[in-house]
Amino acid sequence: MQLHFNSLQQDFAPGRSLFDCAEVMGIRVPTSCRKQGKCKECLVEVTSGMELLSPRAPEEAHLGQNFRLSCRCKLISDTGLVRCHTMRRGQMRIERHAFELPTNNRKWKLEPCVTRDGDRILLDGHEIARSTAPIHGLAMDLGTTTVVVRLLNLETGEVVADASFENPQRFGGSDVMARIHFDTHDKSRLLQRTLVGYLTHVIEEFPVDPQTIYELVIAGNSTMRDIFFRLNVHSIGQSPYRSITELEMEEGKRATTSVSESAAKLGLPIHPKARVYGLPIVSGHVGADAAACMLAVDLANEDRTVAVMDIGTNTELILGNRTKIFAASCPAGPAFEGGAIACGMPGLPGAIEKIKILDDDSLQVAVIGDSPAEGICGSGLVDLLSELLRTNRMDTLGRYENGEDRFVLDVKTDAPIYFTERDINELAQAKGANVAGLRVISHDFGISFDDVDVFYLAGGFGRHLDIESSKRIGLIPNIPEEKIVQVGNASVEGACIALLSRAKRDELEAMAKHVKHCRLEAHERFFDFFVEGCQFKPVDASLATENA
Ligand code: FES
Repeated sequence: MQLHFNSLQQDFAPGRSLFDCAEVMGIRVPTSCRKQGKCKECLVEVTSGMELLSPRAPEEAHLGQNFRLSCRCKLISDTGLVRCHTMRRGQMRIERHAFELPTNNRKWKLEPCVTRDGDRILLDGHEIARSTAPIHGLAMDLGTTTVVVRLLNLETGEVVADASFENPQRFGGSDVMARIHFDTHDKSRLLQRTLVGYLTHVIEEFPVDPQTIYELVIAGNSTMRDIFFRLNVHSIGQSPYRSITELEMEEGKRATTSVSESAAKLGLPIHPKARVYGLPIVSGHVGADAAACMLAVDLANEDRTVAVMDIGTNTELILGNRTKIFAASCPAGPAFEGGAIACGMPGLPGAIEKIKILDDDSLQVAVIGDSPAEGICGSGLVDLLSELLRTNRMDTLGRYENGEDRFVLDVKTDAPIYFTERDINELAQAKGANVAGLRVISHDFGISFDDVDVFYLAGGFGRHLDIESSKRIGLIPNIPEEKIVQVGNASVEGACIALLSRAKRDELEAMAKHVKHCRLEAHERFFDFFVEGCQFKPVDASLATENA
């Protein structure tokens, strides 16, 4: 929301809270406590105008720099501009569906762990409830930045509804290391409770009785998954970066890194005896989301050599076939999701998602939702970098050729949208981490990217990337376009398959144990690859191993 106010506007007079202002503007703010400062759900991220707001209230002590509880912070000036946004539920353009996956023409049998025998509802063959109503399950992709939830009918396998929202845990930092630090020092489990609060609203809005939901399957990176299960995540943040489940498996205390807990224990509003099942972690930061992607692309039955790249705050990389699988996780940071960029934003209405510099130097842009431009999202940032490079405004090191420190986008907007050399540097480092991951994994596997038969670009960001722009700046290897498949959210797809098929779940449990984890931080060439990857130039796919 953009709050322009002056002394003549009674609705926005000093003393009004941001929550009140949002209500006047018809903007819905998540809440369970009706502005009492208790639920901590009314979070807003303030991007400008913080000085026009009251000092932090005690209830806001846990929040990071730019975050406020909208029911606690009040206007203290009678004129000015405050820019902020809620953790918008259901508005962000997150890929909820997967496209062109081998498992889409379902070859596996519908055999969920939850079944019916007359009016008896069974979980793994044991009665947990009595009901004649339809039985449901949930699949969730729990990302650092975004969360996608899908509701399925377990007797037909049909998708009943889905929802998505920004992960409200962002107040604890934008990357996994910051969340680990926050969670380790916060004994009240605030990250988990805030997420459960948001998830509760989503579940209650689904068009079925929450008590008919008997299982929830979760895919997510190691940190997000373990925070959700209230596990201690301290060890994931320290070298050698292992989840407590991985350490316990090594010590022989458990047979798998997958986790199960009852819904009642985690505070979820579904049937209390419902099982919450976290897919297995592969190793280290290669988490249950990577495992879910493997299931979605049917890697256990794949003869071809396939690569999966799920670009996000933590980019997941998988390379292999049914006999040999390598995986890596790149701590790329939030830049390609619009974080840490002056005028960056998520893929929400108002985000510039496509950019072209025309011959007469004017800009052609596409804005999500046909609304006035507010900022630039990931796919727009990739386009912008590519266009600045193509038109020789920027060199391969990310410096502006004209000596300026910013490029101002000439588009219709309330506040100027610009792109600084500092932004370029953030994106260069995120790209460097991704490219270094690709180079390491192909080197360790012993092939070049020319040898890959299918290159799956997964995730919402991957789905909307312009391939030519991505190749020009070297975000993805320079491989033939016909080998690249933009598949959307493979992670939630994998979670759905595990929810609907016990056999596929078992297949994934077995597969996850045989994946070789490429530890980027320990690789001798990682730093060289990273430095090279920070440059904006195409990555020659045939050189991927030769230079190693
Ligand atoms: S509305 Fe609950 S804390 Fe603000």
